[in-house]
Amino acid sequence: MAHHTQIDSSPPVLRGMTGKLDRDAFHKTINILAAQIPASKTAVLLRSKVLKHGILDLSRIQNVLHGPDETRIILLNYQTEDEIPLDAKQLLEENSATLIPRKVELTYDFWKTDDIMAAILPEDLVDEAPHGYTAIGHIAHLNLRDEYLPYKHVIGQVILDKDRRVRTVVNKLDVIQNQFRVFDMELLAGEPDYLVEHSESGCKFTFDFRKVYWNSRLHTEHARLIDMFSAEDVIADVFAGVGPFALPAGKKGCGVLANDLNPESYKYLQQNIAQNSVQSHVRASCEDGKEFIRAVISRALDDPLPPAKPPMSKSQRAKLQKLARQNPTNSETPRASTPEPPSRKHISHFVMNLPDTAILFLGAFRGVLSPANAGGRDLSGIYAELPMVHCYCFTRDPEHAEVDIRERVEKELGHPLGREVSYHHVRSVAPNKEMFCVSFRLPREVAFAETEA
Ligand SMILES: C[S@@+](CC[C@H](N)C(=O)[O-])C[C@H]1O[C@@H](n2cnc3c(N)ncnc32)[C@H](O)[C@@H]1O
Repeated sequence: MAHHTQIDSSPPVLRGMTGKLDRDAFHKTINILAAQIPASKTAVLLRSKVLKHGILDLSRIQNVLHGPDETRIILLNYQTEDEIPLDAKQLLEENSATLIPRKVELTYDFWKTDDIMAAILPEDLVDEAPHGYTAIGHIAHLNLRDEYLPYKHVIGQVILDKDRRVRTVVNKLDVIQNQFRVFDMELLAGEPDYLVEHSESGCKFTFDFRKVYWNSRLHTEHARLIDMFSAEDVIADVFAGVGPFALPAGKKGCGVLANDLNPESYKYLQQNIAQNSVQSHVRASCEDGKEFIRAVISRALDDPLPPAKPPMSKSQRAKLQKLARQNPTNSETPRASTPEPPSRKHISHFVMNLPDTAILFLGAFRGVLSPANAGGRDLSGIYAELPMVHCYCFTRDPEHAEVDIRERVEKELGHPLGREVSYHHVRSVAPNKEMFCVSFRLPREVAFAETEA
């Protein structure tokens, strides 16, 4: 906030302000010196190196003011004449400056969130004060530790005041335990409006923050996986939520079959598909993950996804738009001259982000490509290349994470993994609880097995 200043601009200490935020209590008068100078000398003094650290530099406080009779008043970073270095004093004298006393009033608006928190909270809580909240759309989302609870409404109010994006501040009430990964929350400040509009990876997401799962910390992970997909791929997202994998993949051109058992997630998934204009090749379903894994193979065969549209360059798009404007009834486009690629029946990737239990769903892959599960069809040709499975999980044995995960995956598949396996550390969730993504090629013996697990 202050650079090179010797003036104490910290807020008054108001420890123990619980319940209601008293903004008026945040008031401080600072007595300083100012240099009253002829207006013509202003530029010289402001540019002088000698006064570089001598001019008051507080954000949002104007330090050059109009004085009487064509003079200017420059606020100084000194409270007494003794503090002014000799060379600075000399410069001021040479430029006909008169030193005058001045008061600077600092109010609640002057200080930043961290300053206000530091003034309110007991000293031992200041260092870990909740400045690191997550903003999702207009909602600031906190996860306050017990010690901070007496201050929760004041903290909420400060965040609401200081962060312009925020209209609603909530605190998470419990650890996620339920099936749909949603948690109870308490309104700390602002409007009880939980309908979020959020942008990620070039897509717009709308959802009710109380009713569906959303975790902004997974943004990089979503992007990492989407980067692996090519526009021609078809993706089956078993636990899709409101679409953070499905929609950006769809925007890229991938065909997507996205599923979530939570009816609320399904509702917003459908809404998000429509509002991102990917409905031609992104489809939603609402069923249990195991059923979805077994059904989705036939679904893609019986109702294939339209061919991937090769991405258009800017000039191609402009040409197309020009043609359409010139002759709106003519359906001939530059694309029409190239033959249509075939529609897509083959699923290339399964995404399974339900880290607590996703591994337990892997048994559903046993025999998934067998004639018994494909209406008697022989899929060995179309599935010459088997799908990749990206399965999220937690391990409580970080030292031996890969061994631990591999054992659990192989147990559910009922077969050892092949050579194509990789383990990606996603994030640390808690001490000794690490989130991983294991990516593996579905073993042929599993996919074409005659028995289910
Ligand atoms: C951890 S969230 C992941 C959401 C999203 N894919 C993401 O990356 O943010 C897991 C999702 O699985 C859904 N879910 C939980 N149990 C399920 C089941 N048995 N079958 C299908 N979906 C389920 C939940 O509703 C939730 O949306």
